[in-house]
Amino acid sequence: MTTNGTTAFVASTMPIRVSARTRKVAASATQALEVKVAEMREAGQTVISFGAGEPDFPTPTVIKDQGHEAITTNLTKYTPAGGTIALRRAIAARLKEQTEFDYRYNQLVVTNGGKEALYLALMALCDAGDEVIVPAPYWVSYPEMVKLSDATPVIISTGIETGFKVTRAMLDAHTTPKTRAILLCSPSNPTGAVYTRSELEMIADWMRSNQAIVITDELYDNIVYDDKYVRWLEAAPDLIERTIIVNGLSKSVAMTGWRIGFAASARDEYARAMQKVQSHSTSHPSSVSQHAALKAYTTDLSAEIGAMVASFKQRRGAIVAALNNIPGVVCALPPGAFYVFPDVRGLFGKPLASGAVLHTSQEVSMYLLETAKVAVTHGEAFGAPGYIRLSYATSQEIINEGVRRMATALRIA
Ligand SMILES: Cc1ncc(COP(=O)(O)O)c(C=O)c1O
Repeated sequence: MTTNGTTAFVASTMPIRVSARTRKVAASATQALEVKVAEMREAGQTVISFGAGEPDFPTPTVIKDQGHEAITTNLTKYTPAGGTIALRRAIAARLKEQTEFDYRYNQLVVTNGGKEALYLALMALCDAGDEVIVPAPYWVSYPEMVKLSDATPVIISTGIETGFKVTRAMLDAHTTPKTRAILLCSPSNPTGAVYTRSELEMIADWMRSNQAIVITDELYDNIVYDDKYVRWLEAAPDLIERTIIVNGLSKSVAMTGWRIGFAASARDEYARAMQKVQSHSTSHPSSVSQHAALKAYTTDLSAEIGAMVASFKQRRGAIVAALNNIPGVVCALPPGAFYVFPDVRGLFGKPLASGAVLHTSQEVSMYLLETAKVAVTHGEAFGAPGYIRLSYATSQEIINEGVRRMATALRIA
């Protein structure tokens, strides 16, 4: 025993071997930032965090009540792998409204958040040697999940100039006979970009020239501000058999902690493959969450969601205006999600009033955390050096104070 009462490990001469699979994967930069913020707060510092990837709204009451009901009526046992039939039927009915396609319940797998759905889709599709196109800026987990599936991520860099969206020329330049899939995220985390119908049609046209499968991540589908959201399958219905839809309740119904998402494939082969992996790994999401999710998929939540989106829209306008007032920072108005992704390259190499000189967005985010106690995620985490990501799913007061601190810290001398 050691002095603090824990059992000490005996020093072993056995060599440690962590699997090659996990060695090739990087840890999540967004989660690392949250850990750092928690540590600083624990040490008594008042840190303002723009790191959160979740709505600051509570889960709607009807859904919480349904969760309670699940517990009191003992819906606390295993469910079928892939999710309860009732929930899968409810999601299929929702997909019918959204896409006009009739998915059968067994073409769906209910997952532990959208994250597991993406993971299962890649595990079902990919082998070593396959390439998966990942447009950047990308959600942090995409390339790492592709690597876990033994395939190779092929990153296409995009910037503020193309609205953070891929063009046909970019797609063609990255297509090879090994191209197996493309990960499409609209609305996008981290940029808030939303593909229009004609842009989706352009991607569909590209797909007709190859054999790729699209994994369409629609997790932020309710959070769009101006134009009507166009889904992938609305733009490319003829490609349904080459489509895996990923969606869930985390962002659009403020249910991040419940861990409910789904993957849908009109090809039974892919749906069965995903179900097999889930049945041998997580089995299914919590029975309580599934029961609550049934309510979410069968209730009209437009009032709750409408209020949340209206509030985000107001904050979006405020944060974009405030950031554009900082010399050296250029921020586009994103049409969806609850993130802004300002270009900070205008700050590089310029001496600041504080005496600091910054050269990368990683340095910008480290400097802001240390000197202004403001947490933002550096663009490098999303494959987009030169930018930073701020989530505005936080109160207007926090936004005002956070951007004020940033403006002071980033003042060019
Ligand atoms: C684009 C995108 N896809 C998927 C996920 C995963 O969501 P979930 O929390 O439902 O696993 C996230 C979460 O941040 C996301 O931003």
